[in-house]
Amino acid sequence: MIRFDNVGLRYGVGAEVLRDLTFHIGPRSFQFLTGPSGAGKTTLMRLIFLSLKPTRGLITLFGEDATSLSKVALPKIRRRIGVVFQDFRLLDHLTTFENVALPLRVLGKEESSYRADVVELLRWVGLGDRMHAFPAVMSGGEKQRAAIARALIGKPEILLADEPTGNVDPPLARRLMRLFVELNRLGTSVVIATHDINLMNQFNARRLVIEQGRLTIYD
Ligand SMILES: Nc1ncnc2c1ncn2[C@@H]1O[C@H](COP(=O)(O)OP(=O)(O)OP(=O)(O)O)[C@@H](O)[C@H]1O
Ligand SMILES: [Mg+2]
Repeated sequence: MIRFDNVGLRYGVGAEVLRDLTFHIGPRSFQFLTGPSGAGKTTLMRLIFLSLKPTRGLITLFGEDATSLSKVALPKIRRRIGVVFQDFRLLDHLTTFENVALPLRVLGKEESSYRADVVELLRWVGLGDRMHAFPAVMSGGEKQRAAIARALIGKPEILLADEPTGNVDPPLARRLMRLFVELNRLGTSVVIATHDINLMNQFNARRLVIEQGRLTIYD
């Protein structure tokens, strides 16, 4: 589903921040991505989401060479991937409902065709009573869950979540993790970047560990 062969990445003219990454993540897998701050976790997520191009090596997504996609093919493949960004990236002038519905709206869908799905998803993440709130009046944990709902509304085959429990207390972190486990059980491949070793230890999932841009553990 996701395959990296000898991938390297540098930002601009600096040193490589990721080096010689070779791994693959299969369908229906549940994978943690971990390593110290600055190790390259977010960078690796951006490579998978194709918002960065590798400076060397090959990335294959859904069996296709992702480094040489046409302008038409790129958005199509990206729609199969949901992303929860480390900093949420909700739009401040939209309500929770509107933020979550946005990916469908930009595809030109009518609200009547997705309204019930958005409401159901918001209830699933525990935001049934925050649908009409704007980000400015929501807590970090609420915004986090809105960002998760937005990533899921398009029914992605892969969910990438960058520190999705970074802004919530331990009980809510466990709840969010159970949500990801449930999602995975329904067939989505889930990749979670996290520092939180305690949290990882509570779940029996594979780990990719990155240290100073290199893969040090891959189980
Ligand atoms: N846009 C950028 N331009 C230049 N260097 C960058 C850029 N983004 C990240 N870096 C550098 O790349 C390295 C990896 O950063 P990255 O954000 O991927 O780390 P991370 O593992 O996600 O860290 P954290 O746990 O703090 O989120 C760091 O040395 C960082 O300074
Ligand atoms: Mg990061």
